[in-house]
Amino acid sequence: MTSEQSTADYIRLLDPAVRPDPYPLFARLRERGPFRIGTAPVVVVTGHADCTAVLRDPRVSVDRSLAKLQLGFMPIYDATKTTAEQVKPSFLFLDPPDHTRLRRLVSKAFTPRVVQRLEPRITEIVDDILDKYSAAGTFDAVTDFAYPLPVTVICELLGVPLEDEAQLSHWSSLLSRTLDPTSRQAPESRADPAELERAGTELSVYFERLTERRRADPGPDLLSQLIAAEDAGDMLTHDELISTCALLLVAGHETTVNLIANATLALLRRPAELAALRANPERAQGVVEETLRFDSPVQLMPRIAADDLTVGGISVDRGDLVVMLIAAAHRDPAVFPDPDRFDPARDNRHLAFGLGAHFCLGAPLARLEARVALTRFAQRVEVPRLTTDPPVYREHVNLRGPAHMPVEFAAVLPR
Ligand code: HEM
Repeated sequence: MTSEQSTADYIRLLDPAVRPDPYPLFARLRERGPFRIGTAPVVVVTGHADCTAVLRDPRVSVDRSLAKLQLGFMPIYDATKTTAEQVKPSFLFLDPPDHTRLRRLVSKAFTPRVVQRLEPRITEIVDDILDKYSAAGTFDAVTDFAYPLPVTVICELLGVPLEDEAQLSHWSSLLSRTLDPTSRQAPESRADPAELERAGTELSVYFERLTERRRADPGPDLLSQLIAAEDAGDMLTHDELISTCALLLVAGHETTVNLIANATLALLRRPAELAALRANPERAQGVVEETLRFDSPVQLMPRIAADDLTVGGISVDRGDLVVMLIAAAHRDPAVFPDPDRFDPARDNRHLAFGLGAHFCLGAPLARLEARVALTRFAQRVEVPRLTTDPPVYREHVNLRGPAHMPVEFAAVLPR
């Protein structure tokens, strides 16, 4: 019975009506504990200790080919191969040794020290965004404020022309829906598989063409470095180069926008927090970490059992999918006292960037972008006010964030 109730609640997470506040559902799911979805090869894990145990367990894998149930993935196009051969997963979906080799190739670009050097450029981009608004007025805190910063930064880092951004954003938004759970009982919540496949193919063709251009005319960007690594020998194959670019582009596009938007929403709903941040920019770091916990941009993470194991008293069979409800774990009172309270000062052991070998490579960059964006928003936007609360949410279940957030303000101060 408990499992049936939990399965029904899990499927309700797909209902767009739940999007403004899924947290009561997550709380119910966590209180009942881990469960199997009927007789399906899917186990859902909800508490902080169980999610942490799964993320640390060497018997779980990210390799979706091991799963008994076929999962969404990012298709990659290669004209010389048959459809069945075309799927080349990025290193997010690879185990060692391929994961280790590919991650190492790009990790140098994302170390805290290298990322720290981007702070002046990031501040300049945020100030340029805010400069467009000076007199009293209104802007959309998602499309006009949260969105342009991460997108500009990842395009500059990768060496992707900013004028292609609208097209890239369309593909990226579609492809990130492959990270959403699906259910036969809620077919209307599914993205169109043909549309997803087309987006994957078109994004790959785009990177094929860009790679050709960069090969002829290299720059200081990450793409040129990856091309040099491919040319240098056996460090990465051409397919791996394309799937790595697609991963970085999608990761750089989607999640950080949601972090900035979710944090801006939390501050607008708490004017005292916003005033405190304005008076003391040091508080930004706490606000960012608490947003990562309280309204996590990534709500769930999947793994595949590569062996039989037990999680929270539930048997998991080899090939089962294990879905970790990170958003539920983030409100676990065993780890976070008074978990429904937004408290930037709390000791924050959130799992928003994952844990272990696949810990988010872009975490230092995302943290820096969000810290600068929130600080400049607090310092420069006078008397901001949400005009619609709750805002309209994106259709995505896993990568959570508002689609639009109109804000009125008295003025934007000069920089
Ligand atoms: C707030 C922003 C972000 C959040 C919440 C986030 C979250 C995550 C999470 C949870 C994972 C691990 C997934 C898993 O273990 O299954 C991950 C992996 C990854 N993220 Fe992020 N991410 C963010 C921003 C970024 C940015 C800006 C980049 C880079 C441009 C990036 C690049 C990556 C990459 C390459 C991986 C794969 C790491 C691996 O498999 O070794 N992320 N991210």
